[in-house]
Amino acid sequence: MEPKLFQRWIHGRLSLRNRVVMAPMTRRMADEGGLASAESADYYARRAENEVGLIISEGTAIDETHSFDTPTVPRIATPAQWEAWKRVVDKVHAAGSAFAPQIWHTGRLAQDPIGPSAAPGLKRADGTTRPDIKEMDAADFTQVMDAYRRAARGSVEIGSDAVEIHGAHGYLLDSFLSPVNNQRSDEYGGSTEARMRFPLEVTRAVREEVGPGFPIIYRFSQWKMDDYRELKFRTSEELGVWVHALKDAGVDILHVSTRDATDPGFEDEGPMTLAGWSRKLSGLPTIAVGKVSVTLGMDEAYGETKDRIVDPQPWIDLVERDEVDLLAVGRALIANPDWVPKVRSGNWSELATFDKSQLQELH
Ligand SMILES: Cc1cc2nc3c(=O)[nH]c(=O)nc-3n(C[C@H](O)[C@H](O)[C@H](O)COP(=O)(O)O)c2cc1C
Repeated sequence: MEPKLFQRWIHGRLSLRNRVVMAPMTRRMADEGGLASAESADYYARRAENEVGLIISEGTAIDETHSFDTPTVPRIATPAQWEAWKRVVDKVHAAGSAFAPQIWHTGRLAQDPIGPSAAPGLKRADGTTRPDIKEMDAADFTQVMDAYRRAARGSVEIGSDAVEIHGAHGYLLDSFLSPVNNQRSDEYGGSTEARMRFPLEVTRAVREEVGPGFPIIYRFSQWKMDDYRELKFRTSEELGVWVHALKDAGVDILHVSTRDATDPGFEDEGPMTLAGWSRKLSGLPTIAVGKVSVTLGMDEAYGETKDRIVDPQPWIDLVERDEVDLLAVGRALIANPDWVPKVRSGNWSELATFDKSQLQELH
């Protein structure tokens, strides 16, 4: 019998040829005007031709104002941008895989940053500093909500199989959850319930736009780009409140972004992973991600140390023992468009290592 990872997976109207997911990975190579390029269509299609079950796009920004961090991030806000994404989706479908755009508002990390609370601008990777973060006012709430609605409509319009809401890594929605970044004293800040309010309102709005039955994936994380050690959920009980709220708001699939998917979710609560806890507590299908077949963390991978390939079996076992339903692969799929056939045939040791220089082109 084939390992479960390589078996078909059906959930509602989503039917995947296997349970391997391409993790969303920003590439910042859109054409002028935020249009997904022909090269990116080929890049995603190459993974589909190599049997990746579900391809989640790089973060695609939801508007033309605050939502992106660089102008080369593709967008999903206008009919021309939808048309460009539709070409990507059509190519992925022609090769037999499913596609979900990841809808993204970079919030505090945007080129024109906004967030739940005012704060000094964050540093960019090149050492320069972004403008100060503006606290969202009533007009911003309306604007952002409209943008999410339009991006959700766009996701259906382009013929995708699902939509993923990027609620992780310190970007806009995640920053509302964070007691550090969210210092508001209105209905959007203070208690846990109040901090959850905006991400849940966005989720309900997305549900309204895509209609019943269209799969919504929600990605969240403990960590954020500017603090790998942040903990939003200190216990499984706290996590339980959040994942139940997501389910009630209309989420179908959880995507739990961890740095190593095999790590225990809560050190003093046993070996269960964060994705495993999320699935167990919510009853929702869950995607795990983090370090599949690689050894370095995302931060380390940008340093001088060379990564090496490791046997993906411990990650495959997460699916095999039903701790999670789907497994997302990030950097190893940049280095190896043919990750699925190599691993399925037992030839994982032939995988190429990820190297940051591979980010220079859409291979
Ligand atoms: C180049 C690069 C770009 C990324 N961009 C995104 C993104 O747009 N959205 C997102 O949710 N995560 C993003 N991530 C995180 C990945 O989706 C994934 O969670 C992470 O790389 C861990 O998986 P891995 O160890 O298999 O690479 C990015 C990661 C990399 C390496």
